[in-house]
Amino acid sequence: MRRGQEIARFACCLPTRIVFGVGVIQSVGAETAALGDHAMVVAAAESMAKSGALREVIDSLEHAGVKTTVYDRVQSDPTVGAIDEAASVCRQMKCRVVVGLGGGSAVDFAKGVAVGATHPGTVHDYMGGPGHTPKPVTEAVLPVVAIPTTAGTGAEVTAVAVITIPETFEKHGIITPRVFPKVAVVDPRLMVSLPARPTAGTGFDAIGHALEAYVSKFTTPMADLLALEALRIAAEALQQVVEAPTDLDARGRMAWAATLGGAAIANAGMTATHGIAQALGGRFHVPHGEAVALCLPETLETLLVVRAPRLARVAEVMGFATGRKSESERAKACIQGLKTLRRLVHLEIPLGTLGVSDGDVDQLVEDVFATQQWSLEHHPAKLERADVRGILGALF
Ligand SMILES: [Fe+2]
Repeated sequence: MRRGQEIARFACCLPTRIVFGVGVIQSVGAETAALGDHAMVVAAAESMAKSGALREVIDSLEHAGVKTTVYDRVQSDPTVGAIDEAASVCRQMKCRVVVGLGGGSAVDFAKGVAVGATHPGTVHDYMGGPGHTPKPVTEAVLPVVAIPTTAGTGAEVTAVAVITIPETFEKHGIITPRVFPKVAVVDPRLMVSLPARPTAGTGFDAIGHALEAYVSKFTTPMADLLALEALRIAAEALQQVVEAPTDLDARGRMAWAATLGGAAIANAGMTATHGIAQALGGRFHVPHGEAVALCLPETLETLLVVRAPRLARVAEVMGFATGRKSESERAKACIQGLKTLRRLVHLEIPLGTLGVSDGDVDQLVEDVFATQQWSLEHHPAKLERADVRGILGALF
């Protein structure tokens, strides 16, 4: 920091207790017992049965004297209807705490259930969106324990639950500090069974969170700190976990990078990359992390001028800046380095192979401007429709 340069006013928020490390899954029971004596455990049956993680969680809860009700029908991109159904079960069973086990979808699902089970109406009433003022979430919300099984979304430490409205192809959030999980139990051992492709996608999502937080209009000194450390770690660890999925040390580093990335966005927000990715996910079900990987470098290109110092700094911490002398050269090296990393982890996937055609671009652009306006407002360069069309057009 230059002499005389003041730190701007800011607030930061890191309210989630993080229990991290190989084997910490066994502490879920004790952590949950402190919050309530009856847990609703939400998970996706097929993926959790394979890893045995659901059994471990239930055993730990029961050992700690916590009664369990299991809802194992979580699917990716959870919908309003599915969460309302689970919330109704949660209410009927009088559960006092919600445990979310799985990827970001399961954790978001748990947050949605925690709201839905304790508030009248449907969870849609508490979600944002264009022309839709959310009803306030009160302190009645149930506490959430988040157990991520992917290293990516960072949902275990964020104040957002992303929920899909299938009728309109939209994804919006319940956004309130009241849905910060009370505890995040982050055990890298739960991540070793994740195949290479979702490992790469979720890992790129973590990089997107950290990078977007760092370049966002609303970044804070706390977010900067978290984001740069996440990027430093992920730059090295992502390729390692994709090439050697059972490397527990690399899994651990990537898990920590993802948690840091989540904490960064909780203190800064995100930018147009996530807006475009949400549009791709909402309409074409492109897996979230892959959508982020697809459009992150191309969207950052729009910031080469206005965020040159920050992109140059990212290039330095990610190891992309070697031999680049000027700031603008290092900023360009950041974009190029991300493209190279994307290719090395096999995510250079043409949009056409994901069910999107040239003719869909105009609709996607409209989706971004109609439903993801927030992301354009956080983006430090003004994007017009032609800019977003250009970003999407480069992905075929
Ligand atoms: Fe994300």
